[in-house]
Amino acid sequence: MVKYLNEIPTKHAKLVAWVEEWAAICKPEGVYWCDGSAAEYDRLADEMVASGLATRLDKKPHSVLFRSDVSDVARVESRTYIASEKQEDAGPTNNWIDPKELKPIMLDLYNGCMKGRIMYVIPFSMGPVGSNIAKIGVELTDSAYVVINMHTMTRVGTKVLEVLGNDGEFVPCVHSVGKPLAEGESDNGYWPCAPIEKKYIAHFPETREIWSFGSGYGGNALLGKKCLALRIASAIARDEGWLAEHMLILKLTNPKGEVKYVTGAFPSACGKTNLAMLIPTIPGWKVETIGDDIAWMKFGKDGRLYAINPEAGFFGVAPGTSMDSNKNAMMSASKDTIFTNVALTEDGDVWWEGIGYDAPGKLIDWKGNEWDPATATEKAAHPNARFTAKAENCPAIAPEWQDPAGVPIDAFLFGGRRPSTIPLVHQAMSWEHGVFMGSIVGSEVTAATLDVKAGVRRDPFAMLPFCGYHMGDYFAHWLNIGKQSTADKLPKVFYVNWFRKSADGKWLWPGFGDNSRVLKWIFERCNGEGKAVETPIGYMPTVDAIDCEGLDVSAEDMAELLSLDKEGWKNEFASIKEHYAKFGDKLPAELVEQLNALEVRLNK
Ligand code: GTP
Ligand code: SPV
Ligand code: MN
Repeated sequence: MVKYLNEIPTKHAKLVAWVEEWAAICKPEGVYWCDGSAAEYDRLADEMVASGLATRLDKKPHSVLFRSDVSDVARVESRTYIASEKQEDAGPTNNWIDPKELKPIMLDLYNGCMKGRIMYVIPFSMGPVGSNIAKIGVELTDSAYVVINMHTMTRVGTKVLEVLGNDGEFVPCVHSVGKPLAEGESDNGYWPCAPIEKKYIAHFPETREIWSFGSGYGGNALLGKKCLALRIASAIARDEGWLAEHMLILKLTNPKGEVKYVTGAFPSACGKTNLAMLIPTIPGWKVETIGDDIAWMKFGKDGRLYAINPEAGFFGVAPGTSMDSNKNAMMSASKDTIFTNVALTEDGDVWWEGIGYDAPGKLIDWKGNEWDPATATEKAAHPNARFTAKAENCPAIAPEWQDPAGVPIDAFLFGGRRPSTIPLVHQAMSWEHGVFMGSIVGSEVTAATLDVKAGVRRDPFAMLPFCGYHMGDYFAHWLNIGKQSTADKLPKVFYVNWFRKSADGKWLWPGFGDNSRVLKWIFERCNGEGKAVETPIGYMPTVDAIDCEGLDVSAEDMAELLSLDKEGWKNEFASIKEHYAKFGDKLPAELVEQLNALEVRLNK
């Protein structure tokens, strides 16, 4: 018998039956239906503070700090699965497992996994509630930390159930931290999770289900984000002819008041949040935020692609974020925020590496140990420490950020961390060339994932860990999107690299607010203006085409940033070939043609 802790707020028979089925498997102490209210958030946060799992922050209104287990600090790609019926539908870049094999393994783990805990039922909407682009999910979880994070990151609660009605469609998402409690046992203030070999972040694209076990962190546990809005949504988008992408969305206004909307796909921890909230260093220009991580895009009747941000908050990287580098993120996280794995100051504030000032004395580091700036040998904050902040608290949030119709996109940016070879910016010569650019995105690996070895890896469209089906089919889908409209209406495609380094390892480009100088050129190019030269890799700005007024970069460095490194590109070419070989006959012929044409141009 299921013990309900509050009244069942829905007459959706299928939903109630599904909750009861899982309660019978997981055997929680009770089942609680979340209403998404502020009172619910506060009660759960207070309970976690009382139990020692969270710390209230005296210096940040309405905010709390969590420290995770040292083993549970980021996404785990080796434990993330696409369990499609056929292996070929998961493709060479995903971990595949037969659902018939995985489900019994996971059911065994789920059996009794919530003993001593509450099962929370979280009805949530990705996208404005009731919008026809939005999708509804219901997450079952035994983590109150997940509940309050979902409150901020998605739209939770009763209004979602109203839209769902008695028979609406929802994506079922099951989550457990995988640590049942024995009679009388408590977490004692420690972050519960399961060891790595018991962690599974599983997706069933055919049945559109998500099962997650063993991790309480980020994208492993907040199932609306990477699991639903990217892995499952990308498979739905393929079937329905739209795009679900790992992209920021920004609104760019020039001094005349003209507006362009730009999206950018950069791999994890490669600058999406920062670009989305940028404060331009060039006078008269304005950037406003629509979204910082995910974009869902559909064609409008006018043949243009319209994007919505399916999320309601930011799960942003803390280290490196300062009033200097990203004031808008600092302001977004100045209240109503959940911090995870940052350091705690003596007076109840947060601190991390790159916050813009020295540690104000002794700290408690992310592992819960005393940390003395004079003697410390390790970082005080984990490199993937994060803040969960409300989009509505961002000073730069665009008024139209929740428009259910979305915003029409003028330009797509691709990019990643590339210390050499890739110039500051170049532009695709056609849609196919743009898809080629997306397909070869590469980046140095960051702390956003736990188990990938260092170095540059290919991360096509910044979707390597997030594409719910065969990457070769995904490339074909992008090519098809281009056939559904005309060049004048499709977004122009650019490749940017803020991360070029000099021989002695220093950044060649100041980045952050100065990236507005590159956005300006992109804006001009979208208007058919902006000076450019045709090179073997695409259009590149002439040296005088980037606005350098007041910029602190030497002429030599600028020339290097905007030069074509022919030798570097020849090596790049070999590595792209190797990357492409993985996709076998699923690699679209158009991309092979693009690669061959590049080789010809480079050897001319
Ligand atoms: P995810 O949330 O993991 O998807 O990351 P993201 O793509 O939103 O990256 P984010 O903007 O959080 O930046 C990650 C790190 O890169 C932070 O430490 C930033 O300070 C740093 N960063 C962002 N933009 C720039 C830039 O233009 N130049 C340099 N040098 N660093 C940057
Ligand atoms: C990323 O890794 O791209 C993130 C963080 O945005 S997580 O939500 O953990 O996936
Ligand atoms: Mn991300």
